[in-house]
Amino acid sequence: MNKFPVMSAEEAANFIRHDDHIGFSGFTAAGCPKSVSVALAKKAEAEHAKGNPFKVGMFTGASTGDSIDGVLARAHAVKFRTPYQSNVDLRNAINGQEAPYFDMHLSHLAQMLRYGFLGKVDVGVIEAADITADGEIIPTCGVGIAPTVCRLADKVIIELNRKHPKEIRGMHDIYEPADPPHRRAIPVYAPSDRAGTPYIKIDPKKIVAVVETDLENEGGKFAPVDETTAKIGNNVADFLVSEMKTGRIPASFLPVQSGVGNIANAVLGAMGENKNIPVFEIYTEVIQDAVISLMKSGRVKFASGCSFTVSNPMMDEIYSQLPFFKDKLLLRPQEISNNPEVIRRLGLITINTALEADIFGNINSTHVVGTKMMNGVGGSGDFTRNAYLSIFTTPSVAKGTAISAIVPMVSHLDHNEHSVSILITEQGIADLRGKSPVQRAHAIIENCVHPEYKQLLADYLKLGNGHTPHHLKASFAFHRIFNETKDMHQVNWDKYR
Ligand code: COA
Repeated sequence: MNKFPVMSAEEAANFIRHDDHIGFSGFTAAGCPKSVSVALAKKAEAEHAKGNPFKVGMFTGASTGDSIDGVLARAHAVKFRTPYQSNVDLRNAINGQEAPYFDMHLSHLAQMLRYGFLGKVDVGVIEAADITADGEIIPTCGVGIAPTVCRLADKVIIELNRKHPKEIRGMHDIYEPADPPHRRAIPVYAPSDRAGTPYIKIDPKKIVAVVETDLENEGGKFAPVDETTAKIGNNVADFLVSEMKTGRIPASFLPVQSGVGNIANAVLGAMGENKNIPVFEIYTEVIQDAVISLMKSGRVKFASGCSFTVSNPMMDEIYSQLPFFKDKLLLRPQEISNNPEVIRRLGLITINTALEADIFGNINSTHVVGTKMMNGVGGSGDFTRNAYLSIFTTPSVAKGTAISAIVPMVSHLDHNEHSVSILITEQGIADLRGKSPVQRAHAIIENCVHPEYKQLLADYLKLGNGHTPHHLKASFAFHRIFNETKDMHQVNWDKYR
């Protein structure tokens, strides 16, 4: 480590020029750099004050902390951004068309960078727990696209964060597939299988700066489980138990992927509490608080992911009990945690959250009322399309009951009817497997729709005809009336009959 130039974040940020494309380590706020990006935002503001342009392209693992997306969006320094985000200021810049945003499947990003589809990576900014003189980088609590960034970038800046112990070495499995036509099978046959090395190997000559920090993760807290999320969680657990009883899920169970956010956290909690579900394994992208709690109680025996997207107290707990967790937790690049080949081979039960679903089983995970980007598709498509059994959960209503999360036709399509097996709300469970569109619509309306919207959706189904009986003029009536009145209840089908 001694041979690398140690400097301040401001000095390191000077290696980054206007128009550069930066690749950041991390996945969610976990493992993201937190000091060079802040210095870069200040540099951008200073350049703007002098009348000079200063914007950078941003490749990240997924969402980041405020110290990347927030500061650079507020500094008006985003030339483009991909792949997933959840920062309010960046979201506003995206929806205001100030920050061009390319929403994509997370498993695709690293290979698209290697294929040259997205332009050059000029500078990598990588958070590390340790680095050796010969260029072995130990990532911190989130990997993301760091291995590929280290391979492709001309210059690499390391943020050496002392909050993360060097002893985390051994918790990562870094594997980058060869590109076609030379790609081979990824040798991961169980969540705990290792295919690569415990470190990212980089040519040490590319490291232009090491910035020492001791900054906390910018992870948020999870909301306590409420009545709705508890019901959704219990419905998921009950459904999985019934599938085991029929033999459609093996008695030994299958590895589980669970999405981001509070619902996903509550679902895992409910699965842990249901003792009819055997001790299970996780193969996912974000390892959230519930997974760690279930590991401590012996309900989860192994979890492979791309990041520890946990609250700070939970992060401290993992680090204070490293010997307990080290052989139970594994972090991989997102290209492997979300890899379709591995997902299909392991036979994952995938559980993701919809923003909106339609009565035929199509899912919108990203766009609020069809136009405003929420976060992005994230890994939901990687998992859904390749699952053994793909489940979507959503509360049946939003904004009190002014919005029905289940509508005649989704206002934006992320996951289509061909990939979605099961829809679960706090109202109940709709099993869509093997059903025609009309049969799916009946199952969803009867089991998942909020009582205040059942009749409206049942009546919509009578307006159209054909295999998928849409009425093309009425299909977005829920959204149009919401934009006008802020209440979907006001829909009236009379004018369409
Ligand atoms: N129409 C309009 N707004 C809606 C809505 C709908 N159908 N459903 C929910 N909302 C609003 C909520 O009211 C809430 O608004 P608020 O922030 O003003 O309170 C907001 O959207 C978020 O809803 P919430 O239920 O809290 O969402 P969440 O935190 O559970 O996240 C997703 C849901 C879909 C946004 C999130 O899971 C996501 O980004 N998914 C895509 C990526 C993904 O699935 N990754 C996992 C792969 S591992």
